[in-house]
Amino acid sequence: MGKQSYAVTIAGGGSTYTPGVVLMLLNDAEKFPVRKIVLYDNDAERQKTIGDACAIYIRERHPEVEFSYTTDPAEAFSGIDFVLAQIRVGKYAMRDKDEKIPLKYGVLGQETCGPGGIAYGLRSIGGVIGLVDYMEKYSPDAWMLNYSNPAAIVAEATRRLRPDSRIINICDMPIALMDIMASMCGLKDYRDLSYGYYGLNHFGWWWKIEDHAGHDLMPHIKECMARNGYADATAGLEFVDASWQATFEKAKDVYAVDPSTIPNTYLKYYLYPDYVVAHTDPKHTRTDEVREGREKRVFGTAREIVRRNTAEGFGLKPDEHSEYIVDLASALAENAKERFMLIVPNHGAIENFDSDATVEIPCIVGSDGYERICQGKIPQFQKGLMEQQVSVEKLAVSAWIDHSYQELWQALTLSKTVPSAAVAKQILDDLYEANKEFWPELS
Ligand code: NAD
Ligand code: G6P
Ligand code: MN
Repeated sequence: MGKQSYAVTIAGGGSTYTPGVVLMLLNDAEKFPVRKIVLYDNDAERQKTIGDACAIYIRERHPEVEFSYTTDPAEAFSGIDFVLAQIRVGKYAMRDKDEKIPLKYGVLGQETCGPGGIAYGLRSIGGVIGLVDYMEKYSPDAWMLNYSNPAAIVAEATRRLRPDSRIINICDMPIALMDIMASMCGLKDYRDLSYGYYGLNHFGWWWKIEDHAGHDLMPHIKECMARNGYADATAGLEFVDASWQATFEKAKDVYAVDPSTIPNTYLKYYLYPDYVVAHTDPKHTRTDEVREGREKRVFGTAREIVRRNTAEGFGLKPDEHSEYIVDLASALAENAKERFMLIVPNHGAIENFDSDATVEIPCIVGSDGYERICQGKIPQFQKGLMEQQVSVEKLAVSAWIDHSYQELWQALTLSKTVPSAAVAKQILDDLYEANKEFWPELS
């Protein structure tokens, strides 16, 4: 792009992550100079609270940056270089149903895994495709960095429906886990690691971790994993909630299933679904925790900033969650040729896996986009799990495209989290009823 400074649209302007992303965008003008930030949301009221608070912060600290918020796509997507997409179609009210409906039938309820993840996928596809189309209409040279979930299903949908679009799908979990691994080894953060990884989003394994001098860090990380999973290292400070701590501890048991690799935390939902159900209160799930925690905190602070008409004295600081997003935008803008973990079509990078599958692997990023780093052949255990899960994701996208009840039933039936086709059907019928406003009509 070679411009002096960049214009960025944040889609899902009313997201709980928006203030942290805005602060991170403004954090380092040398690395990533920003001249304009626009928030875009389809819920004017939710976005106004966050937008008014951000406006006060920018007026006080960065008056040189142009800032606005809008629900008008033409205004939001014209004249921009990057779209950071973080929408939640159906908001927390629907996440609540994704989590609680499967639990009624003894199946785990999770934002991105199992039946709840599939239900969320069928809501998100249309929303994210809509953002891609706005970007291509109003700013065809821009890049979209999408982390709206479920990223695996969204990425598969954009691969099939918008194959030539300038969208890159990403997740912060591998970054957070690599920060923890770096801390286990006395290093600063994920940038100090060189790594090999293969999998799907929220479904992958590290097979190599070295420092930049080429020292193998796997033996030490494995010792830590065998002792207490990810729980002993403290780098993942954003994940302070008790349920995240439990997930970090459970990684010990996930690791035990294949001690030759280091697992993504999300594999607990597939390898220990019975344990997860037994440790979930079906009346109080993760959505309740997020609404009582992060949402209350972020919106409470925003309202207080607006009431006092100043953002001073709140100790505001950039959100670590968003650091890699700004790093990635900077690598695209400045042709950095740096390594990032991306969710991309396989195209042979995992040699013995479906070439058309959407996978999560390390890539090199520069101004032309990304180049895959070949990960070679994967072992039978991972291959078997991944083939099953990628089929779930492909069938879910096919169901959306074909408006097919049958394909969606197959997707739920194939999920490792669901015990039978009969249970899959019961859950599907409830989810379909709850999602009438958001899913295509199925037949
Ligand atoms: P949130 O509900 O607070 O914010 C989402 C916002 O999106 C809401 O303000 C909502 O009105 C808006 N929205 C919904 N549909 C829209 C549409 N079609 N167009 C424009 N705006 C729309 O949610 P949150 O908890 O802050 O999370 C935001 C998103 O980021 C979620 O999808 C979440 O899963 C995702 N996320 C992903 C990662 C990752 O690793 N990929 C990490 C963190 C969060
Ligand atoms: C991690 C995952 C995201 C997910 C988030 C859930 O960051 O990578 O994909 O959205 O956790 O967090 P929450 O606090 O909303 O349950
Ligand atoms: Mn993620």
